[in-house]
Amino acid sequence: MPDESMSAETAESGPSRAVGRTAVVIPAAGRGVRLGRGAPKALRPLGGTPMLVHAVRAVARARTVSLVVVVAPPDGAATVRTLLDEHPLPDSAGATDVLVVPGGETRQESVARGLTALPDDVDVVLVHDAARPLVPVETVEDVVAAVRGGAPAVVPALPVTDTVKQVGPPAPGALPGAPEPVVATPERALLRAVQTPQGFDRATLVKAHEHTPSEGEGATDDAGLVERMGVPVVLVPGHEEAFKVTRPLDLVLAEAVLARRRATDGF
Ligand code: C5P
Repeated sequence: MPDESMSAETAESGPSRAVGRTAVVIPAAGRGVRLGRGAPKALRPLGGTPMLVHAVRAVARARTVSLVVVVAPPDGAATVRTLLDEHPLPDSAGATDVLVVPGGETRQESVARGLTALPDDVDVVLVHDAARPLVPVETVEDVVAAVRGGAPAVVPALPVTDTVKQVGPPAPGALPGAPEPVVATPERALLRAVQTPQGFDRATLVKAHEHTPSEGEGATDDAGLVERMGVPVVLVPGHEEAFKVTRPLDLVLAEAVLARRRATDGF
């Protein structure tokens, strides 16, 4: 249901925003169970450097970004702070500040904690998964530009290549891996796979988090919370290198992309 208390200015695409600062919240508190045993996912190395460090550098390279808030595992804020101090931002990142705060049990809780750490002068917020360490700077800038252009919520996305099936609830007592009943096949041409950074008018995103208590696994997508308030969400083109490192094979792909970048442009 649309949110009555949301002002017309935040609820609709309006004129360009007066310029405050742009911040990026990076949830990095996940355990990364699907990647196998080991350190929290964000701290695992990619090309010898922790995935989180790649993600922070990737967003800090955007000229428009002046603050990065890293949301660390609940008991790992000091470790993450030390890690980031050991891997300072390159000069190309300009004067970007990096804060570290402890995260929560779910991604949604972790993002909410990051939002509470934002200073007052931030008016545009991006949320970027630490697990997408190779997002190109152009994607970050495109999202910021679309929010600054007046869209309250902006999501980078790509067409899906696989046909997607919707399944029904499992039969009582069904074991993992048992055949699942298909209930629908959505038209592939109308589906998009969404990525991060997702960008928001700050007030809109804060309100969306306040509106939706975190239940169960919580929201896996911030734009989904904004949609539930009836606020329009728009998609901009994503990038294939902004993929999420979730399973072991994704790490192989990420290493290959990094090696190609290093060979071609000394990245
Ligand atoms: O689990 P998933 O791959 O969807 O996680 C996406 C991002 O959310 C990751 O960067 C992960 O570190 C972060 N996350 C978090 N707090 C949690 C769970 C996930 O910050 N409790």
